[in-house]
Amino acid sequence: MAGPKLAGGPIVVNVSQRTATVVWIVETDQATLHPPSGDAKVSPSLHVEKTTFAGLQPNTKYEFEAGPDHSKGSFKTAPAPGEPFSFVVYGDTRTRPDAHSAVIRQLLQHGVPDFVTFSGDSVADGGDPSLWPIFFDIERDLLRQTAFFPSLGNHEHHAPNYFEYFQQAKPYYSFNWGSAHFSVVDSDLGNVSPSKAARDTYWAEQTRWLEDDLAANQKADFRFLVAHHPLYTAVRSRQGDNPHMTALAPMLEKYRLSAGLFGHDHNYQHYVKNGVHYIVSGGGGAPLYDVDVPPPGITQKVASIENFVSVKVNGKVAKVEAIAVDGKTIDMFEISAGR
Ligand SMILES: [Fe+2]
Repeated sequence: MAGPKLAGGPIVVNVSQRTATVVWIVETDQATLHPPSGDAKVSPSLHVEKTTFAGLQPNTKYEFEAGPDHSKGSFKTAPAPGEPFSFVVYGDTRTRPDAHSAVIRQLLQHGVPDFVTFSGDSVADGGDPSLWPIFFDIERDLLRQTAFFPSLGNHEHHAPNYFEYFQQAKPYYSFNWGSAHFSVVDSDLGNVSPSKAARDTYWAEQTRWLEDDLAANQKADFRFLVAHHPLYTAVRSRQGDNPHMTALAPMLEKYRLSAGLFGHDHNYQHYVKNGVHYIVSGGGGAPLYDVDVPPPGITQKVASIENFVSVKVNGKVAKVEAIAVDGKTIDMFEISAGR
């Protein structure tokens, strides 16, 4: 190979009012596996390059160049409370690159958001370095010009790649953007440990953290929860699958969550229960799931189609629009501040 080549990025992560980290991933070499049967498989040697810009001004657009190709990009720093902003939610981009590409194309046509909250399952196996360049190639034109806030799905497998590529110090975290607070939860208990006791301890610690985080941000105009596994689902074969998440409902109601943003089910779903909106946007490219049994009493809208969700916050109102891969509006509603 003739020197390192760009295999991912640049992407912009950990953006706040004052700092932003730009990441790009280079392929320096590769190895070829020859299985006893079937095709040979090429696996790249990937290296993360990164830098952090500090001392930035809030609510300001910055342009940059990064990587071996001097790829151009841009990002906007977080605004102070009261300033308008926009973000999008999508996830489950694994397995069908063509469908993933179509969603990103439609998203870009709709306009570049200030940031993305990703609902998990970026690639089919987070531990397989050959899959990530496919993800980053499809995401390139979006992620080089917006901030990216990831969450762990079950397909990331808690792999070190996820933490390195997205420069995440922890599997769960929170951040502020304008008048909104975002709590990002790791709902993927299955990959935490083979030991049930260890999984229970992990979840108890994380639940305590979430409660403290929500309690400390009661003055925010909006509180959003981002996680992979939803509390409620219209997918018959998956109902009751996530009792650890469903058990969070009383806490989310108590601390007046504006909306939960989830993935895992490859479709669009919107529920309202005791004042809390629950949105599933897992239609980023993975094979679609039916929405065959919408839960009675709480269902607002369900649709089995690739999608993303756009949220525009202006003053005391968040306008939410779910948009299908064909550009049609699936769902539209508003959330008021301070509920
Ligand atoms: Fe999933």
